[in-house]
Amino acid sequence: MDTVTQIAALRERLAACRSQRIALVPTMGNLHAGHLALVAQARRAADVVVVSIFVNPLQFGENEDLAQYPRTLAADQAALVQAGVDVLFSPSVSALYPRPLTDQTQVSVPGISDLFCGASRPGHFVGVATVVCKLLNIVQPDIAVFGRKDYQQLHIVRQMVFDLALPVQILAAETVREPDGLALSSRNQYLSPAERALAPLLFQQIQHTAAQLGKMPPDRLASELAEGLDAAGFCTDYARIVDADKLIPLHSGSEHAVILVAAWLGQTRLIDNDVVPYFSFQPEES
Ligand code: PAF
Repeated sequence: MDTVTQIAALRERLAACRSQRIALVPTMGNLHAGHLALVAQARRAADVVVVSIFVNPLQFGENEDLAQYPRTLAADQAALVQAGVDVLFSPSVSALYPRPLTDQTQVSVPGISDLFCGASRPGHFVGVATVVCKLLNIVQPDIAVFGRKDYQQLHIVRQMVFDLALPVQILAAETVREPDGLALSSRNQYLSPAERALAPLLFQQIQHTAAQLGKMPPDRLASELAEGLDAAGFCTDYARIVDADKLIPLHSGSEHAVILVAAWLGQTRLIDNDVVPYFSFQPEES
């Protein structure tokens, strides 16, 4: 595996591969089995696999965990070699953003970027869309792989690719979970033992809600989900049940619903989701 830190060097490395199928897996490093599942999907779909590791300052709010975010490059490199990755692109902040961050051209996917996680993390999805757009322009892959765990991010990336007619196919990879159901995330390591013991309840409650869909109006179910999590010790940021394809309110034509949740456990913000077939709520006639 070649590790490249400069844009020009990456372009040079990939120039000879342009006749082959190239896949990009963008990450912020601190790789776990969830990332490696993205890499495995990329490996199956392409001849040349490029992984980027870049903790993107543009997508962190002022009071968020940018400084604290775990950086484990040596271990990540070893894992990527094992996974058969061809090229690791790990630029510094100044290599990716040579100009001041405040002057950086930004990519914004309107509307959806301000909902759900975007409502509590203003500017986050502009930062994500900007760095993903830039990475796609640098690598020019045929395929890019994103995890379903970041469901809203996946939707925004797809929207951006469509709106800007970027010549790349976006693949989605299933969420990888601990045996107790907790979705893998680099932020899980911030959890205290007591919080870690509670954390699987997030997905359990989402699944419980999924089983109730169609028996109650979705908004009431979402409120009950938030109340249940709060009663158990979480501090729910949001719980919503919306159309899984468009992230708009469920309607008679909705085929799938997605249950989207973000909830704090102490200082750690966890997100998770589940997509389920949607049968609209039919109140019983009395
Ligand atoms: O999901 C992530 O790790 C990041 O948001 C991404 C897509 C690598 C952009 O920085």
